[in-house]
Amino acid sequence: MIAGKNFDMADRANVSTALLRNVPLFAGLDDEHLRALGRTIERRSFARNATIIRAEDPTDSLYIVISGRLKVLMSDTHGREVILSILGPGEFFGEMGLLDDSPRSATVMTLEACELLCISKSEFKRSLSENFELSLIVMRGLVKRLREADQKIGSLALMDVYGRVARLLLEMAEDVNGEKVVVRKLSKQDIAKMIGASREMVSRVMKDLHLSGYIELRGRSIVLRDSILLPE
Ligand code: CMP
Repeated sequence: MIAGKNFDMADRANVSTALLRNVPLFAGLDDEHLRALGRTIERRSFARNATIIRAEDPTDSLYIVISGRLKVLMSDTHGREVILSILGPGEFFGEMGLLDDSPRSATVMTLEACELLCISKSEFKRSLSENFELSLIVMRGLVKRLREADQKIGSLALMDVYGRVARLLLEMAEDVNGEKVVVRKLSKQDIAKMIGASREMVSRVMKDLHLSGYIELRGRSIVLRDSILLPE
């Protein structure tokens, strides 16, 4: 099993009710349910570049991100990749295969050291059947992913690479003291894999956006200027 290999380097620890109370997925569960879950969930640490789930593998668990970031990707036999999404703290993955009993739809790898909670398929299904609120949160998560996938399909079909880079930067930006700033480190290679362009093209577009005053590079952060507007 893929994940098992990574556990060799990983810590395992008991999961407290206090930790589970802060997990958005479990927001609707009372303390009794959280205590029961805590006895079955495992907390695991993974190094950077660890493969947690591999596409086409059978499904056995759901994962929740406590800390760190991961990429959801698809690759071909030539090693080419497309990044479907970047996941961070509070988000969950691995639910699709659990819900439809199909093999994993994509590969999930850590971008940096990560701490994850891992819940078994049987325990997840039992919790779902007992908690409507949990089912609702999972459904909302699936709807959010569908909306994001629709946006991505739209931008691939309708936007040029400038528009796609600008949209991605705007999606990733956070408000920092009134400015829109991309603080999370993402390589040009990863940006290219997220928007379906070459790394060279992404470098050229970023350079143009910088020279034209649409973005400012401040250390490892990218500050977005108000002028960076998406095409209609
Ligand atoms: P599963 O198919 O079990 O294993 C791979 C997981 O990647 C999948 O469940 C989802 O949790 C996640 N995943 C697949 N596609 C996307 C996407 N487009 N955006 C975010 N997460 C995804």
